[in-house]
Amino acid sequence: MPSIESISARKILNSRGGWTIEVTMRGGGKEVIASIPEGESKGSHEAHYVPVGKAIQNITEVIEPILKGRDPENQGDIDKTLLELDGTTNKSKLGANAILSVSIAASRLAAEIKGVPLWKHLRDIYGKGEGTNAPRLYINCTEGGVHAGTQLDFQEYLVIPKSRSVKEAIQIGKEMYRLIREYVKTNVGPSAVNVGDEGGFTPNFKNNLEPLKVFQKVAKALAVQGLVDFGIDAAANNVRVSAKKLLPIYKEAKEKYNLFFLEDPFKEEDFSHFEKLHEMFGNDIVVCGDDLTTTNIERMKRAHEKGSINGVIIKPNQIGSISETLEAVKLAKEWNWTVVVSHRGQDTNDDFIADLAYAVQADGIKLGGLGRGERIAKYNRLLAIETQTRPTF
Ligand code: PGA
Ligand code: ZN
Repeated sequence: MPSIESISARKILNSRGGWTIEVTMRGGGKEVIASIPEGESKGSHEAHYVPVGKAIQNITEVIEPILKGRDPENQGDIDKTLLELDGTTNKSKLGANAILSVSIAASRLAAEIKGVPLWKHLRDIYGKGEGTNAPRLYINCTEGGVHAGTQLDFQEYLVIPKSRSVKEAIQIGKEMYRLIREYVKTNVGPSAVNVGDEGGFTPNFKNNLEPLKVFQKVAKALAVQGLVDFGIDAAANNVRVSAKKLLPIYKEAKEKYNLFFLEDPFKEEDFSHFEKLHEMFGNDIVVCGDDLTTTNIERMKRAHEKGSINGVIIKPNQIGSISETLEAVKLAKEWNWTVVVSHRGQDTNDDFIADLAYAVQADGIKLGGLGRGERIAKYNRLLAIETQTRPTF
């Protein structure tokens, strides 16, 4: 049985110039690396990161001696051991950053040793499903909130092609992205085409629904109205508008722009307003939890009991291990929630989540705009998976 022979970690930069960690794992004649992202607008129920230096020390002094000799193919055993070593409910001892980077590295090493693509190995662990659908792309074309520092209160405005082929969806998405760029350059000014943390443009619109109006115009100009949906991630923890005033804005977004997806429309403890909104729209809109649920099954159960949402964001680093991430996906699917795997505001070139989204046949994936390297790395990985799995597309 091939086993883990060594684990080392070092500091690398993330996309916002902060430090994060990269883990190198060796075993069975193979060597793999994994690095992890960090949120910019984090939910307060996310698993805890420890300072990078401390995470590296925890990996080399605590984790490596215990995991050496273990079988990387047994993800359940690896993650269980990591969780036991940590012993806290929020991973504050070893750090979710230390635990997740090792958890991901182990899955990559196992895939290398088995000689299969990472998504295939993840699907084996997940133990369900055989589909070949690509996740729908939730492409960030305008940013506001804490990702941009403009007057827009909401954090992300998304163009969501309907196609379940990555190539086709990117073709439509890139035309939309290009023409939105032209539109804001001409109508708002040259600096409007600067991009925010996730690669969306940052026009200083004063009206929070103006980006959707632009998207609608651009879709019409390209004659792709029937081929795309629109979404918003309000990231309402950072929005100063009251819940009472937000409700009619969301209603207007649905009526005027046929809004399809609405993430974190209210603050992370406001399960009741989520419920009210979900009740108001039924299943006409995906009302999605992110900071509300933090990929944490306890929070998800609460949202489910209350009927607060019908969609959920899945971010491995919110919970801190692969096994727990897959458990959250399984539960969401049991409840027929729309599952959207997501990157983070401060990311790296690691493309793990592309394989994850394909493995679990997620409904969607949020990878940012089509204009920053750490985002493009993941889009390109999805293209590679499609080439492997559906060569005729
Ligand atoms: P974050 O934001 O990664 O910066 O927290 C992304 C999101 O809210 O979806
Ligand atoms: Zn969000």
